[in-house]
Amino acid sequence: MSAIQLLPDLLINQIAAGEVVERPASALKELLENSIDAGATEIEVRLALGGMKLIQITDNGCGIPAAELPLALARHATSKITSLEDLERVGSLGFRGEALASIASVTHITLTSRIENTEHAWLVEGEGGALSAPQPAAHAVGCTIAAHDLFFNTPARRKFLKSEATEYAHCEEMFKRVALAHPAIGFTLQHNGRVAMHLRPSDLATRVHTILGEDFSQAALPIAVEAVGMRLAGFAGVPAYSRASRDAQYCFVNGRFVRDKLITHALREAYRDVLHQARHPAYVLFLTLDPTGVDVNVHPTKIEVRFRDSRAVHQFMYHAVQQALARAGGEQGVNQVPVSVLSEQASDVGRQASGFSELGWRAQVPQAMPRQASMSLAVNEPSPFYSALFAGASETQATLAPVQAQPDIPPLGFALGQLHGVYILAQNAAGLVLVDMHAAHERVVYEKLKQALDTQTVPTQPLLVPAALTVGPLEVATVEEQGDTLRQLGFEMAVLSPNSIAVRAIPALLQDADPSELARAVLQDLREFGASRVLTERRNELLGTMACHGAVRANRRLMIPEMNALLREMETTERADQCNHGRPTWFQMSLADLDKLFMRGK
Ligand SMILES: Nc1ncnc2c1ncn2[C@@H]1O[C@H](COP(=O)(O)OP(=O)(O)OP(=O)(O)O)[C@@H](O)[C@H]1O
Ligand SMILES: [Mg+2]
Repeated sequence: MSAIQLLPDLLINQIAAGEVVERPASALKELLENSIDAGATEIEVRLALGGMKLIQITDNGCGIPAAELPLALARHATSKITSLEDLERVGSLGFRGEALASIASVTHITLTSRIENTEHAWLVEGEGGALSAPQPAAHAVGCTIAAHDLFFNTPARRKFLKSEATEYAHCEEMFKRVALAHPAIGFTLQHNGRVAMHLRPSDLATRVHTILGEDFSQAALPIAVEAVGMRLAGFAGVPAYSRASRDAQYCFVNGRFVRDKLITHALREAYRDVLHQARHPAYVLFLTLDPTGVDVNVHPTKIEVRFRDSRAVHQFMYHAVQQALARAGGEQGVNQVPVSVLSEQASDVGRQASGFSELGWRAQVPQAMPRQASMSLAVNEPSPFYSALFAGASETQATLAPVQAQPDIPPLGFALGQLHGVYILAQNAAGLVLVDMHAAHERVVYEKLKQALDTQTVPTQPLLVPAALTVGPLEVATVEEQGDTLRQLGFEMAVLSPNSIAVRAIPALLQDADPSELARAVLQDLREFGASRVLTERRNELLGTMACHGAVRANRRLMIPEMNALLREMETTERADQCNHGRPTWFQMSLADLDKLFMRGK
């Protein structure tokens, strides 16, 4: 090893830039926030090549005095706080004094600024951290900062940039977040010389309408609740406006866009009884609380926060939104699943099921009913067991053709009841359907997990009360070393001590599993086979283990709506007709089979 020495300033800034400036959108965020902190009422953004070539911001804020221009680009230099007390009650978006220095260390930067009561503006240029002397320039009161060629001097980081379209999309999303939080400010966004968005100063409702569109505005319930020193304002989409992804979830704490697990959880819970699990609510919500009640200095990009009284925040957000939804439900009937495309009979099932939450199957969304096309549900060859049992009943290759002739009855029909806590009996157009409920549910969960893992979107469910378990050193090491793999699989675990761990979140698809047992099983697989094998050749086994823990157990009493929910899930799950071990999950006995069994008509 070589001798210890201090790092050069440029390298220090580049290291810091690694945290703050990940891609053009993050530089854009920092610059926008600076303009807002400077009191600007008009902000203009110009981007070229998705921001990779140019990010330029012009504002009409207070500007920077000529003498302070070099300082603005220096690290640990800020006009926003001077003491720890300031930090604890910080009201500005910036306070770390490192954003401009970080950006300047990885771009060619030009900073032009003029303050009130001066004759002209001044300009400084920087390249990779080195600064030119300020020179006179023309500019109105305010600031223009242009950052060219992001990562020009750090090729390894440049390689991580994606296509122009992707980088631009991130910039646009960032722009929208900031613009949503500041409706009173006018914003313009240009990309490659063309105006992409022009937002006049307005009220929040208008801004939300412009950015999220007519559909959201129509479906949005206004929220304005104040209690225990907190205020929640904004709009929550009615459940019918739910989305397949989380793309319309905007939550701001004291004007700052945050991604906060606690808040997401509180909102998820608020929608719990009115929204299908696989759907995501849409909202734009602003939580305001005393700055001393929230620590914003948790993460360099400030996207995470820590609440002093997280329980109170959770409760407050949950109740505010849940009550708004309940009120609207009473008035408009939105507390039912949208049933527009369901047949009469099926929609009843949907409604009944929507009231039920324990199993997590809850309401089926209407899309879950593709009646004719692409059903892979031709009846299986009977297993030897069934063949023996029903020897002589030759019509085992029943097809679903008659079902299609009667569009009101789904392929697997409607549940009649449960047999010995193991089988579901259902009636469809052809006759009787027998379902092995554990095997079928296991398969459904398995296929969903697989799909989620394929698209790297295993949704996680934070546990309100984390599960603590005593484990051996190897499990502890696994948790320590395989955090990424665990997260990929939808888990969040942390080491508590040399022989205990906490399970903080599990895959949402397995929310009915015992978190401790599930965690143990997964850690064991990971430990035995290693992360890389578990995600490749042993992947299906691992998913099988997980699915088995998440699936409903034998002897668990199911209500009719739950059974129907499972039948509907099976219909839309590929390969649902076999369990993970290749056994059939369901079996059709046609009326003809039954007739033969009873020697009717003979
Ligand atoms: N658009 C602007 N108008 C006026 N002053 C600005 C502008 N941008 C930056 N400044 C000044 O430059 C200083 C440094 O900005 P920089 O973004 O690096 O740090 P910060 O905003 O104080 O903290 P953070 O690193 O958390 O963003 C700011 O404190 C502010 O005084
Ligand atoms: Mg800043």
